[in-house]
Amino acid sequence: MTVHLPQTGEAGPIGVFDSGYGGLTVLREIRRTLPQYDYLYLGDNARAPYGTHSFEVVYEFTLQAVRYLFGQGCHLVILACNTASAKALRTIQQVDLPKLDSKRRVLGVIRPTVEVVGDISTTRHVGIMATPGTIRSNTYELEIAKLWPDIQVTGEPCPMWVPLVENDEHNSPGADYFVRKRTESLLQRDPLIDSIILGCTHYPMLLGKIRKYIPEDIHIIEQGNYVAQSLKGYLARHPDMEKCITTEGTARFLTTEQADLFGEKASIFMGESLVAERVKL
Ligand code: DGL
Repeated sequence: MTVHLPQTGEAGPIGVFDSGYGGLTVLREIRRTLPQYDYLYLGDNARAPYGTHSFEVVYEFTLQAVRYLFGQGCHLVILACNTASAKALRTIQQVDLPKLDSKRRVLGVIRPTVEVVGDISTTRHVGIMATPGTIRSNTYELEIAKLWPDIQVTGEPCPMWVPLVENDEHNSPGADYFVRKRTESLLQRDPLIDSIILGCTHYPMLLGKIRKYIPEDIHIIEQGNYVAQSLKGYLARHPDMEKCITTEGTARFLTTEQADLFGEKASIFMGESLVAERVKL
């Protein structure tokens, strides 16, 4: 696929990408923290969930999305998806960006989350709930070991949680079965856990149910706010990138699935009425 990138000098929105609806939990927090910028959200709902796909497939889909967002004028793209951050980010940063445009940037959500966990856990036993792809990649374990070598990490794959959200079943009584099964399993595997990272951007939509099955004294770490704070710091440290972002305070929403369905759900979630557009990557 050939993408004609706009000239580097032209400013554009910040791209925010996820396999589907999950990245909205991150976008919501980013907009709360940095309302002045323009945002272009892309959900690859037609091919979600990513969590059960192989490394190669997630990398290929994510690269297509990044190129698409670059083609729409984004200089900075946030992978608001742990699965894409775990399986594609490093290769895109190291191999693809130098070829596409070395001045553009792609950032993920795992590093900003890992940076805060060491200040939150006192038992130094941390649980990760994420898609099977993120858990299998061991990215959280590896990143936590680099920053906080004294922390013991237990990862729990939750294969049904993203489909529950994507299919609008996250508030249904049936969702309780799957949430309880995985939270109980994690706490049985390591009863010393005092902090649990929701390592998938879809999971905050299940928060009410997750909280029901996790004792009050255990911290549940949602990523959105940490990613937003990290982005704020990044832009303060990189004024050249900051100048490449337009500042009308708008957000546009793109999906690879049916636009009206996405728009309806995203409106409820973002607390504002919005219209989505369908695109082909
Ligand atoms: N929101 C994505 C994440 O953070 C879900 C991935 C999927 O589609 O399975 O991992």
